[in-house]
Amino acid sequence: MTLIACRDLTLAYDQQPVIAGLTFSVSPGDYLCIVGENGSGKSTLVKALVGLKTPSEGEIRMGEGLRPTEIGYLPQQSEIQRNFPASVYEIVLSGCMAYLGKRPFFGSAERKRAETALNRLNLSGLKNRPYGELSGGQQQRVLLARALCATSKLLVLDEPAAGLDPLISKDLYRMIKSVNRDEKITVIMISHDVQNAVAEASHILHLNKKPLFFGTTEAYLETSLGKLYREGIAA
Ligand SMILES: Nc1ncnc2c1ncn2[C@@H]1O[C@H](COP(=O)(O)OP(=O)(O)OP(=O)(O)O)[C@@H](O)[C@H]1O
Ligand SMILES: [Mg+2]
Repeated sequence: MTLIACRDLTLAYDQQPVIAGLTFSVSPGDYLCIVGENGSGKSTLVKALVGLKTPSEGEIRMGEGLRPTEIGYLPQQSEIQRNFPASVYEIVLSGCMAYLGKRPFFGSAERKRAETALNRLNLSGLKNRPYGELSGGQQQRVLLARALCATSKLLVLDEPAAGLDPLISKDLYRMIKSVNRDEKITVIMISHDVQNAVAEASHILHLNKKPLFFGTTEAYLETSLGKLYREGIAA
């Protein structure tokens, strides 16, 4: 059973490869953490996984009936997005876009999904607040709820805890793990926080322009690279 399989994948901008020869696969229920230094191609890879970037070589195959529109995606944050003029509820509800089909408006099923995602991440009390007024940690929780609204199969999270203090990050990782464990939603997450993220993940993909490691977390921690990262020396 494979949810996503990448084979000999090359991703490039203007014919300059960012990632070359990448092969790995993700099974239902896995929690894959992607690590690697700045500019190693992590965000580019997840953009390809969610259908926002076309591979220049190789292929990405989806199994288990997964379609790109069924993936809940939390992109890497920018300042502009932090001031997005909408309420918490509107942001979360917008995660249900793929369920609209040809309908122009959200219906009761989508509103229920949004309410469920808000409750799941303890956000009901903030439902009507303007998104731009929230703290960074609250905003990330809203974006996680939005991604959750979009999927019951696969979450793809690009540095969900970036810029958050250690306690809030830990809380966010705990929520992500509980969604993975309790709702059996597969998780692919990019993180620089190797100590915390690796503790929760079942598999690790370590990139540095070319793939350095792909395998189970246990096997990763046995490698010299894994040991360096775990101790925070190379992170
Ligand atoms: N739209 C783009 N056009 C051209 N080059 C790009 C584009 N997006 C990213 N790149 C380049 O591709 C390389 C990989 O970028 P990417 O954003 O995937 O790295 P990353 O591993 O996510 O880094 P970070 O940890 O800083 O988020 C970088 O050298 C970057 O400058
Ligand atoms: Mg990135």
